[in-house]
Amino acid sequence: MTTRTLIENLKDSIGETVTIAGWVDIRRDHGKLIFIDMRDATGKVQAVALPNHIEAHEAANMLRPEWVVEIEGKVNARPEKMVKKDELNGMLEIEIVSVKVLNKSETPPIDVRGDGRDIGEEVRLKYRYLDLRRPRLQQNLRLRHKIVLFIRNFLSNNGFIEIETPLLSKSTPEGSRDFLVPSRLEQGKFYALPQSPQQYKQLLMVAGFERYFQFARCMRDEDTRGDRQPEFTQLDMELSFVDREDVMALNEQLLIELVQKTAPHKKIQQIPFPRMTYAEAMKNYGNDKPDIRTDKNDPDLLAFCWVIDFPFFEKADKGGWTFTHNPFSAAKEEHREWLMNKEHIEEILTTQYDVALNGFEIGGGSIRNHDPKALSCVFEIMGHKEEDIKANFGHMLDAFSYGAPPHGGIAWGLDRLMAILQNEPNIREVIAFAKTGEGKDLMMAAPSDVSPEQLVELGIHIVK
Ligand code: AMO
Repeated sequence: MTTRTLIENLKDSIGETVTIAGWVDIRRDHGKLIFIDMRDATGKVQAVALPNHIEAHEAANMLRPEWVVEIEGKVNARPEKMVKKDELNGMLEIEIVSVKVLNKSETPPIDVRGDGRDIGEEVRLKYRYLDLRRPRLQQNLRLRHKIVLFIRNFLSNNGFIEIETPLLSKSTPEGSRDFLVPSRLEQGKFYALPQSPQQYKQLLMVAGFERYFQFARCMRDEDTRGDRQPEFTQLDMELSFVDREDVMALNEQLLIELVQKTAPHKKIQQIPFPRMTYAEAMKNYGNDKPDIRTDKNDPDLLAFCWVIDFPFFEKADKGGWTFTHNPFSAAKEEHREWLMNKEHIEEILTTQYDVALNGFEIGGGSIRNHDPKALSCVFEIMGHKEEDIKANFGHMLDAFSYGAPPHGGIAWGLDRLMAILQNEPNIREVIAFAKTGEGKDLMMAAPSDVSPEQLVELGIHIVK
């Protein structure tokens, strides 16, 4: 391709002839003058075809929205009174010299220029590659990139390394239903897609990495809501030789710097972040992710708060006990003896800490049990038999018997944080290829049927 000038750089080329390439955003036909608004990944610019460039004028006349074109043109400064101060290229205009069509486009089924809020979810997700052309979604994903990059650098500068953990794994007790993947080599057996990398990250602490993080894809087969997708992203981290205060302080600092550096127009309501116990949150707000904003009409106000001192166990639906957050958590120091003696179960508090933002739980973590006996007690309290504990968590208990350091961590719901930062009502708006409320990918048409041969290979018979 001829040397291409990016649209955001046009202001450095006033008076020169340049070539730009991108999409036709709008074409306005004023008879003699044909205006073509051009768009590339970096911005928009107005180009004009004048009748004296006959060929270019005819070519411009044929253009339609969303065609991909290369335009050669002269960058002219606009006369003073025509300058649009609040636009990227409001001070200039391109006088079209020639037009080359790189690809035509059918009339798009959805308008890609507006914010898209008035268009139905189904058609937006079906044509997601068009939907993503709209400036709002472009900005959401570009900010997401910026934030991920910021976090990577911050953690890297603080001694963390990023390690990938498997997607084909074993069912872990995160509290949701697993997505299962049938094994071909061992028919009748299944992998589970991870609900989080919880066990792997703890095993990385046993392995001596001390500070791990990962942008981890997590899969949970649960009903989709505005702040919940079956597949989502966590900023996951784990640290060795830390206590609760260390993890909370580091995460608070990261959140504050992230807002200040990547979304400076946002105001954090209170620093340090206020803290409340679970009991206080329930009493004063009726939930454990309180919205403590003093002004709920301010779209740029961020009210972070920590919620701590959660009960470790709650009564299970089927009777007995279940964990409230994470079975791998440690009890608070003063309740560790109760855990070991399996007494005062209802009163045992965990080291769990959640971080809430404007009424959403955006993260949660805890200090873990690194003592295999204490971990066994948790499973015993929940009524697991010794052989089940061995079968399901034997690898964790084994690992902890070889010198496990004290450790703890946290995971943020990255999609939720992004949605709040962008004032989006639904995390789907900050995820490139999101699923519908029914968990469908309408663009790829997934889930879908598979061939009879694939089923035979897996030893699966579908009951209709
Ligand atoms: P938890 O289950 O609390 O903890 O998950 C951490 C954070 O992930 C976000 N989240 C979700 N976001 C979008 N869609 C979902 N379906 C969804 N489910 C959860 C929330 C939540 O706070 N392993 C532990 C973390 C740890 O203890 O270190 C865990 O997964 O913002």
